[in-house]
Amino acid sequence: MAGIPPTPAPGGGPVDDPPPAWSRVVLVGFMGAGKSRVGREVARLLEWSFVDADHEIERRSGRRIPDIFRQSGEAAFREMETAVTAELLSREQTVLATGGGWPAVPGRMEGLSLDTLSVWLRIAPEEAVARIVGGRGRVRPMLQVSDPLAEARRLLEFREPFYGKARLVLDARRSNPRALARLIRDEVRGRPVPPPSS
Ligand code: S3P
Repeated sequence: MAGIPPTPAPGGGPVDDPPPAWSRVVLVGFMGAGKSRVGREVARLLEWSFVDADHEIERRSGRRIPDIFRQSGEAAFREMETAVTAELLSREQTVLATGGGWPAVPGRMEGLSLDTLSVWLRIAPEEAVARIVGGRGRVRPMLQVSDPLAEARRLLEFREPFYGKARLVLDARRSNPRALARLIRDEVRGRPVPPPSS
């Protein structure tokens, strides 16, 4: 005889179902937070694949991100980002580093599936600008302005509520990329994450 079906939990599954195992990790956060570096290390530790949304956009379009911004504008870049990321988010056993602006659309973070561990690598605007502007890293079109720090502050103020919807928030400045990656690896494997050291 069939029993009474369990009441669905708000998240979708039956009340007593354990949460699903994590199928992928999505790293979000501001430019310069180290999403690619940490993501690559998480993938190495888990023996999963790593993919960087920006690199994928560049590979598929055959253009560098600054060229896309300059030639086609930010709106065109965002369209490519939306399409590429939607596809990458269906991959299993994958660590995905998103661009800093990807989460800042209503519904995007909430739309992540229950088996996707979202992680915000949190960084202050001063640190982000110090790492990016004048550094040897990639050119970030969003900060190619006369006052990058003011712009970083403005962008972060708008974006933080979106980043804050991540399931795990890690202070990207306090720990080095390897330590951050180990915390994420432990979370994926179901171990409790210790509070960040002060
Ligand atoms: C952007 C961040 C960049 C890249 C693009 C726009 C943003 O990625 O997607 O330049 O709007 O914050 P990173 O966060 O990897 O630098």
